[in-house]
Order: sequence, then C-alpha cells, then structure tokens
Amino acid sequence: MAVSVFNHPTKIIYGVDSLYKLENELKTLKCKSLFVVSGKKFLENSGTKEKLLSILKNFDIYFFNRVIPNPPSDVIEEAVKILVAQKFDAAIGIGGGSAIDCAKLSLAVFNAGANVKDLLYGKSPVLKRPIPLIAVPTTSGTGSEVTPFVTVRDKQLNKKIALGSYFLYPEIAIIDPKLTFQMPPHITASTALDAISHAFESLWSKDSQPITDIFAEESIKLIFENIDYAVRCDCAVLDERAQEARVNMSMASMLAGIAISHTRAGASDAISYPIAVYSNITHGFACALTLGEVLKLNYPFLSKKFDKIFSRLDIKDIEEMKGKIDSLKKNLSAPCSLRELGIKEENISDIAEQSFDHPAMQKNIAPLTKKDIENILKTIY
Ligand SMILES: [Fe+2]
Repeated sequence: MAVSVFNHPTKIIYGVDSLYKLENELKTLKCKSLFVVSGKKFLENSGTKEKLLSILKNFDIYFFNRVIPNPPSDVIEEAVKILVAQKFDAAIGIGGGSAIDCAKLSLAVFNAGANVKDLLYGKSPVLKRPIPLIAVPTTSGTGSEVTPFVTVRDKQLNKKIALGSYFLYPEIAIIDPKLTFQMPPHITASTALDAISHAFESLWSKDSQPITDIFAEESIKLIFENIDYAVRCDCAVLDERAQEARVNMSMASMLAGIAISHTRAGASDAISYPIAVYSNITHGFACALTLGEVLKLNYPFLSKKFDKIFSRLDIKDIEEMKGKIDSLKKNLSAPCSLRELGIKEENISDIAEQSFDHPAMQKNIAPLTKKDIENILKTIY
C-alpha cells in the first residue's frame, strides 16, 4: 500500500449552537476588530445578524454584505478596498460557499497587494494570511469552510475559475447546523448534491487515500439516509427528524469537504464549470448531472474499493448505485439533461474542450479524452 500523508490545518468546531464558541475563539486570538463577509440579505433576513451582534457585543464589526452567488471579481475588489482602508484583527466569512470564498479571496488579494486576476491566473502567489479567517457555513454543500479552494466568475471571459492554495484554508470553521435550519428546500437540494459529488469525486481521485475514503464513504451514507427528511420540510416548523437530518447534512458536507481538500475533485466537477457558463444551473446540480456516467467510467479502475464501499452501504452493485444517484436527483427535482437547461447540441464540443482543460480532470482516475467527455455529454443530452 502507498504511504499517505494527511494534515488538515483548519480547526473544526462542530455542533448545534457552536456559534456561541465564536467569542471565546476571538478572545483567544486577541482579536477586537472584525471584517464580516456575508451575502446581500442573508444575515438580516435569517436573524443571524442579531444573533451575531449579541454574541459579539464587545467587538468592533464592519459588515461587508455585498456578496452574490458565484461572485464576480468586482465584488472581491470592493472587499479589498475596505481591507486597504481599514485595519482588522480577524475576518469572518458567514453564509454559503460564495460568502466564504469571497472572504478567503479578498484577504488573499489584499495580502498579496495584487488584483483578483493576478491571483486567479497565477501571476501573484497566495501568501500566508496575516489575520485569521473564521468560516461559518449556513448551507450544507460547498465545504468551503474546511477547504483550500475558492471559485470566482471572470465576467470578461464569461468563465468560472477555481483557485487552490494551502493558505486558503480558514484557520477556524464553526459549523453550527442550526444556521442551516432556515435553508429553503431548493438550496438544501442543490447543496446536498454538491456535497455528494465531492464525496464521489474524492473516492475516484488519483490522490484518494484511506483516510479520505473513510470521510467520503460516511458522507455518502449520511446524505442517502438524511436528504429526504432535510429537504421535505416546512422551514418554519422543523420537526425533530428534520432537525436531525439537517444536523447530519452539515456533518456530511464537512466530511466531503475535508476529503476533496486532499484529493481535489474530478471529471464531474471539471464538466460542471462550462455547463454553468452555458446555463443558469447551480453548482451542485451541475456537478450531479454527470455523476452517474462518470461513476460508470471510473468503476473499472477501482472496482475492488467500490465493491467494498457498496456492500457497506447495502448496495448490491454499480447498477444499483447508479440507480440510487439517478433517483436522488429525481427526488430533489434536479435537472437530468442538457436539453432541459437550454444548452444546444452544437455547444457540446466546446463544453468538452473547456472541461478537458480544467485541472480537476487530471485527478480523475480514468484518463478521459475529449471524445469520452463528448460521449458523456451526449448521453445526458
Ligand atoms: Fe463543489
């Protein structure tokens, strides 16, 4: 067996009401002035701002609440301007993956004294952060609170770009599942598919290792067992099983996030990027589109490992697993074809071309050619 190394630098604080640990963490770090990055209306509408203010009543806080989903680089530049104008002791990214990514990237750009594009295209390195970043997720999917990755939209090139660096890991992740209790069903569904895609992609990554496999397998198990309860509930009155389901979905998302931090993602993630440019699909739905087909292509390379995992999950064989993925997407009302997204057949070769050049494709255990990717896309057309 090959030697593997596992070092996860983010301190993880997980559990219902763990948000209340934030004050102590900041005191330990001797931080007084805080830069809080969030989505446009999320903090106010969910009551989280009030909660945060009551926990942090002894701190000076600047709220930067201008993040939108798939943030374009100008939102990051706006955040950087504030970091240049004012000194902070710590930053907090609170919200979905976009808010946490915006906090990670604006600190990195500010720290490098560069602009967003220089960092994204490797002209400027990501350096060690001078102030700590605390990530607080309010969705269960991206895992950004525990990963060294960010994703941003390049408006000019109409492209989504991903960046990875050890220095993008948040110092602390506070994962309080209660913050996900108000997540609407469609976001619960699409973020769950993001998380399960991370788990599968980690299993078939060339860099997978025994420890990441354990995280990924447990994540898949938790998602299959809990997603129906997490998604089919009225957010205003979560019953006990629905609350338990959302607590478990937070765990599943974190586990899958830790797994891909060490393995990176694979073909489904690579293909999701151009698909998201050609349509308005969310990241989780875009990744899940090709998951079953990519599983079929990767299975022969890792059949022994997958057979063991299938049997522990009480799944007979690859056909049954593929069927489970397909019915999961159906139950979550996720799109299942490119046609229903309004993508034209003549765009397939460009999507294949762009996917082939994505770094995640290099981690996929099955060496896929552009023709293979085109075939996947035709199968799901
Ligand atoms: Fe993802």
